[in-house]
Amino acid sequence: MSNTTPTHLAPRSRSGDRPMESDSATPRRRRLCLVALAVRVGIVLSGVLFVTVWRHAVAQTQSGRVVSDAKYTSPYDAFMKMNRLREGFANNEDASDYWGFMESRLGNQAGRILIKRPVKGFSDDAFRGWLMFIRPYGNATGIGNCTACHTVPDFTDRAKHLIGTTKQPIDTPTLRDLGKKQAYFQDGSAKSLEAAINRHVENSRVSQQNKRSGVEVEVGKIALTEAEVGQVAEFLRSLNSVDRASFREYLVDVEIQPVEIDFSE
Ligand code: HEC
Repeated sequence: MSNTTPTHLAPRSRSGDRPMESDSATPRRRRLCLVALAVRVGIVLSGVLFVTVWRHAVAQTQSGRVVSDAKYTSPYDAFMKMNRLREGFANNEDASDYWGFMESRLGNQAGRILIKRPVKGFSDDAFRGWLMFIRPYGNATGIGNCTACHTVPDFTDRAKHLIGTTKQPIDTPTLRDLGKKQAYFQDGSAKSLEAAINRHVENSRVSQQNKRSGVEVEVGKIALTEAEVGQVAEFLRSLNSVDRASFREYLVDVEIQPVEIDFSE
């Protein structure tokens, strides 16, 4: 029968011999194919979505735990946690050991590192100020040696020291939450953080030049330029604590910054 059908009347078909089937089936098969494709894409997408949501939930729980477990909640503490840096001295460790540890932790061969910073509250200056704060030796300047007395994480060794501001050794105060203060030192003689740090710098000279002044050798190691004093002050401002909700924000709102540090300087 089909042989007698004139070609021009035969249904148009790419499969030639089976003209009847293809006419209505091709669009249907295409539709089926599309549905199958859509289902597959859907499965993949929901898989990706599930993993994303799950990861997010895990991250939330982890940061939730970090937030609720935190003893201190300042931008500096967020910085330490997000970079997984050791926050306190280990047993029998002193300021030099702690610096040595940080130096090897931060300085890779190329001298170029990536640090994470809370976008708010911990500027590049604060970061550089922190490095000088914990650095007890080196050439020329950029040396705070602050952790010799203001030991981490409490920023005080709870001991008395003679630093040149008083006649007798005096308790080392913590440097956390200084934002609440209007004046510094026990007698309130320093009216700004810069002034307080500058006094340490001046007393460093006193210690170096006059051994009989009694000003401790550790003070004599401090060597900071005016600009560096500003950066250390900026670091001290990152030690003001915030409420836990804001602390969580600091932990989540992260900026990744490449920094060049030449530890040989
Ligand atoms: C040798 C120990 C020692 C070193 C090193 C030292 N400090 Fe101090 N710091 C003290 C003592 C003790 C006081 C309290 C002095 C006073 O009240 O007269 C003090 C006070 C301060 C204050 C005022 C705090 C307040 O509540 O009034 C600031 C700010 C400060 N130091 C910052 C620094 C910085 C920054 C460094 C590093 C550049 C540093 N200190 C290094 C012992 C030290």
